[in-house]
Amino acid sequence: MILKLVTEGPGQTQLLGETLVKVAGQGCILALDGDLGAGKTTFTQGVARALAIEEPIVSPTFTLINEYEGKCPLYHVDLYRLEGSVDLWDLGLEECLGEEGVVVVEWGEKAEGFWSSTQGWRLFFKVKDGDRREVCITPPSDEYGERLERALASEGIGVKKWKGS
Ligand SMILES: Nc1ncnc2c1ncn2[C@@H]1O[C@H](COP(=O)(O)OP(=O)(O)O)[C@@H](O)[C@H]1O
Ligand SMILES: [Mg+2]
Repeated sequence: MILKLVTEGPGQTQLLGETLVKVAGQGCILALDGDLGAGKTTFTQGVARALAIEEPIVSPTFTLINEYEGKCPLYHVDLYRLEGSVDLWDLGLEECLGEEGVVVVEWGEKAEGFWSSTQGWRLFFKVKDGDRREVCITPPSDEYGERLERALASEGIGVKKWKGS
C-alpha cells in the first residue's frame, strides 16, 4: 500500500511526523528520502515532539547519528554525506533498534539493502510549489497504513491510497 498526501507548510509536515510516530509506535524505523529542503528534518521535528523531546532537532550531517532522550530514545541518522551505499549494520544501528527506541534515517536510500530485510516505513518527500510538499508513504503493512489514514483524517489531513505492492 502507498499513501500519498500534500502538506501545506512546515507545521503540517511536523504534524505528519507526530501523527505517524504515534501510529508506528516504539521500536519503529522510518526511512526518509527526497531532495535537500524537501522536509525530512522538519518531519523529524514532529516525531520528536510526539516523544516529548525538548532539545531542538537539527540535521546530524556531521555526526551521522544523533541521539535524543524523550519518552523513548530517538536515533536520528543522516546518511547525506556518505558516499555510495552503506550497510546500516556497520554503523552500529542494531544497538539502536529494538523495543525501546525510534529510528529515523534521512537519505535511507543509501542503505537500500537494509530495507528489504527490515519492517520499516518508507517516506519520499517532494517539493511541489511554495510551501507545499508531496509525501508518499509505504507503511510496513496495510494494517498500519489504514491506521495512519484514520489518524491523519482526524487531524484534517486527507490521503490518497493505492492498494497492492
Ligand atoms: N510543507 C512543508 N514541509 C516541510 N518543510 C517546508 C514546507 N514548506 C516549506 N518548508 C521549508 O522547507 C525547508 C525544509 O527543510 P528540511 O526539513 O531541513 O529538509 P531536508 O531535511 O529534507 O533537507 C524548511 O526551511 C521548511 O521551513
Ligand atoms: Mg535534513
